Amino acid sequence: MKRALVLAAALLGTALAPAAPTLAKTAYDGVWLFDDTPPTPGVTMMEVTSKGGKIAGTVTTKWYGPVEMMNPRIENGELKFEARNLNDKEHLTRPWSVALESGQARLKGRIWESEIDSKGYKGKPADAKARAFQFSTLAPLGAPIPNKLAATPPMGWSSWNKFAEHIDDKAIRAQADAMVSTGLRDAGYLYINIDDGWQGKRDANGVLQPNAKFPDMKALTDYVHSKGLKIGIYSSQGPRTCAGYEGSYGHVAQDAKTYAAWGFDYLKYDLCSGEWFYADADTVKRSYYEMGAALQATGREFIYSLCEYGRFDVGSWGRDVGGQLWRTTGDITDDYPTMAKIGFDKNGNPDWAGPHGWNDPDMLEVGNGGMSADEYRTHMTLWAMSAAPLMMGHDLRETDAATLAMLTNKRVIAVDQDAKGVQGNAVRKIGTMEVWAKPLANGRVALALFNRGDAAASLALTPADAGLASISQVEDLWSGAKAAKLPASYTVPARGAVMLTVGS
Ligand code: GLA
Repeated sequence: MKRALVLAAALLGTALAPAAPTLAKTAYDGVWLFDDTPPTPGVTMMEVTSKGGKIAGTVTTKWYGPVEMMNPRIENGELKFEARNLNDKEHLTRPWSVALESGQARLKGRIWESEIDSKGYKGKPADAKARAFQFSTLAPLGAPIPNKLAATPPMGWSSWNKFAEHIDDKAIRAQADAMVSTGLRDAGYLYINIDDGWQGKRDANGVLQPNAKFPDMKALTDYVHSKGLKIGIYSSQGPRTCAGYEGSYGHVAQDAKTYAAWGFDYLKYDLCSGEWFYADADTVKRSYYEMGAALQATGREFIYSLCEYGRFDVGSWGRDVGGQLWRTTGDITDDYPTMAKIGFDKNGNPDWAGPHGWNDPDMLEVGNGGMSADEYRTHMTLWAMSAAPLMMGHDLRETDAATLAMLTNKRVIAVDQDAKGVQGNAVRKIGTMEVWAKPLANGRVALALFNRGDAAASLALTPADAGLASISQVEDLWSGAKAAKLPASYTVPARGAVMLTVGS
């Protein structure tokens, strides 16, 4: 009888075998160490365990900490799983695989913009301990942070649009020099902002050091201050910044103190790899509060620039976390379609803008060469009508006469910097034309007429566009021409703009 059962079981294959065979561990079990994966996201190790046929595992990265293996399984001898891909809605998960090749684990997968295809070698539990990701916890929100700065939108220059990571101490000093010699400082552009790419490594106490291109940050801020300018720096609440440099994760208060000790006046804080850890409104807000409170605790005044691409209605809470400006979009590029998309349609809800808190549709591209004079005029007009921060993004040493005239036009800057702090918006749209209005502190109204089309077009402005009963004083801000009344109509070149102030 017994013998017959055994025989039957053998004939039926595994059908009568125990339901969950106590499999030996898979060939992938254990710790695998990676030393040379692409720095984004910088895989440090993979850990796999299997029990009762069930596999679990993580891939630990420098950017995101441990990335959990979802639905890990063995298929054709390979370990397959899915992994979360940030909170990118179109690719919530992506497929990954691991194959054994001459005793090494070949890990393949894609995360954010990075393709991983790297080999890891077998490690020991002690290695796993040494490479374990150190999680940081967020405190609950405290009281809104008092904010007295940026009564008008901040103005200055930032290194990113033109130089990206190719910056050093000398280049920053040269921009400060050019800010003064061009007259841009005297036109109101005050901040020289170092964007991503200045960071080095942390020392044994966790204090972040600049990289070799910035030998002495205090000397650099002293130099910029000596020119009558202010100076800004950049970080992220994630372990890594967008360009892959050391972020402030786990070192927020320490980094705020470092920036204060170096003499910085401005911080742009960019969500970047932090979006892995802080993916909902509550944690994103708390992560910005954490740095806002840390900056405040230094006792030094910082303009605090929030860069989380306009998520979670940032304008509705940006001030509470200590911010004076908050990005409303992804990155601008030096072309008309991108600039126009942002400037016309993604420049933020005007309800949130006003003294000490501004919607930031990103830095200027004026002077970088990718747009025509009319397109740049539209760019500058849109930013001024929007009461947007005016952060130039070109090489100040190469400011040609037309660019300088555009960036230093006093009448246009005055609209941007108007004390009433109203963010203008479209009051009328007809065909390719948009009429924008922005009421000013002196009772006049700034009007802009944009032509978004590819051919010149004409339109008549009316007192109603300015919310006035009649108009008796008209000033063309780009030309400076004054008139007693509006002309019968304005002809606006393709992708161009007219900008006025009018009074009754
Ligand atoms: C993000 C920001 C940019 C710039 C880069 C730096 O893309 O939106 O403005 O700061 O990071 O890496």
